[in-house]
Amino acid sequence: MNFKKVLRDTLTIKFDKAFGLDIGDRSVEIIELEKVFRFSIVTYGRTELPEGVVTNGRINDQNILAEKLKKLLKEAKPKKVSTNKVILSLPESQVFVQCFTVDAKLKSGSLTKAIVEKVSLSLPINIDKTYWDFIEKPLADKTKKLVTFISVPKDIANSYVKFCNSIGLEVVSLCIESLSLARTILKSSNRQSLIIDIGSGATNLSFFDSNDKINMSISIPVAGEQMTQAIMDKLKLDNVEAEILKVKQGFKEGGDNTVRPVIMPLIEEIIKEVEEAVDYYEKTFNQKLDDIYLVGGSALLPGISEVIKSGLKREVQLATGGLNINLNSLAGKGNNFPLFANVIGLGMLGASGEFRDLNLLKKMPSAEVNSVNKLNLFNMGYLSKVNAVRTIIDNKFVLVVMVAMVGVIFAVLLQQTKDLAPQESLTTNSVPNTAARIKLSAPIMSTSSAPVTGATGLIFDPKLRLFVSSTTKMPANKSTTTKAIK
Ligand SMILES: Nc1ncnc2c1ncn2[C@@H]1O[C@H](COP(=O)(O)OP(=O)(O)OP(=O)(O)O)[C@@H](O)[C@H]1O
Ligand SMILES: [Mg+2]
Repeated sequence: MNFKKVLRDTLTIKFDKAFGLDIGDRSVEIIELEKVFRFSIVTYGRTELPEGVVTNGRINDQNILAEKLKKLLKEAKPKKVSTNKVILSLPESQVFVQCFTVDAKLKSGSLTKAIVEKVSLSLPINIDKTYWDFIEKPLADKTKKLVTFISVPKDIANSYVKFCNSIGLEVVSLCIESLSLARTILKSSNRQSLIIDIGSGATNLSFFDSNDKINMSISIPVAGEQMTQAIMDKLKLDNVEAEILKVKQGFKEGGDNTVRPVIMPLIEEIIKEVEEAVDYYEKTFNQKLDDIYLVGGSALLPGISEVIKSGLKREVQLATGGLNINLNSLAGKGNNFPLFANVIGLGMLGASGEFRDLNLLKKMPSAEVNSVNKLNLFNMGYLSKVNAVRTIIDNKFVLVVMVAMVGVIFAVLLQQTKDLAPQESLTTNSVPNTAARIKLSAPIMSTSSAPVTGATGLIFDPKLRLFVSSTTKMPANKSTTTKAIK
């Protein structure tokens, strides 16, 4: 057993953890995990968002989003989250990922320059308007290395952090959704994998190589929302009716399914884009895909896996669980996992305390990051009371005051001990014989008629080598001393 790891896990459970938060276009998920050998769920929740609150990853209505999230935090099951620290994923539709090779000799400044030159040609916005980072990876061809570049518009990242801060949450990491999904889903590190996340506004494709590193990412602007819209238009239904019918019938085969023919062209559009992306990937990276996983709310549509499987002519599996995580408490009928896959990956980072690695938050200027008044957390009904303890431990000012108070108490106690010290030291150190100690506790005759017992009231005169009553003035001729030490 690795004791260091066990100790670290125990400490991170108590002091250094964060919960995961996934803000999608039409839903918000939270999860807090803990890790004792395996990950398990402490608490979780999901709520749907009305149309227009978040569009393409942009927060349009902070107030409604805040109300929804506070309610979700308040009603999280089986209890409230135990920390105000949060790990957030950036919306995949706003994240730009590009992989390319560079000369293996390029380092620091020259590497950065080469990367900026390369991505500036394809980045949809000016690189100065983004927070960006990159990962390097060695290649079989030793003269080259692979660079994975990741960026997000500054205004998007700033708006997510500011929003969290406005309701008392402290963002400790800004992650990429696809990397979070890979952490949750990919079971083996030596297989080429594609994760297809079919959400509400977009279908995101992420290709991972044998090291679980992302090689390519593509966003297709077709998903569940467009299907619902098509049903509304073709079958003349309102949004709620169309949504219910879509979830019930989906791609089930049979003449009585009125929904399938309406949404079939949309899934065919997705399949065509996936085919092209897979072809490009396999040629460019000279790899053969091993596994294809489906996640996201729309992956739960009845019959969708079969339609994608026959369209791609490849094996496709609905993601059902993670490698090292116990999902027993993820309630609900059937397989809820595709709805929570991304947030679980965020929660895993939060539970292991390893949220400082690839993190675009590090690229943000400190003025933009985390202006949370932690002491306000005491008044927040939607966070658990454990937060109060964490707040004290985390808040430097409160911690300094507490340490200072302990210091003062210690100093007072020390002073009191010192006040008693001369008598104590005489009895044990300065006076060499045990007889002296016996005499101290024996009744002693003083110049006053009342006997003085014990050490109280006695002082030692080193010149005379005598104990005298502290209430007695010593005469010059030493005649009235009480007892002499022999
Ligand atoms: N049980 C279900 N069966 C079928 N479809 C579902 C089910 N639950 C949710 N959906 C559909 O999934 C979509 C929402 O999925 P998800 O929560 O993954 O999206 P999101 O994360 O909010 O959006 P995005 O990832 O595009 O920003 C909606 O279109 C909804 O109709
Ligand atoms: Mg999503």
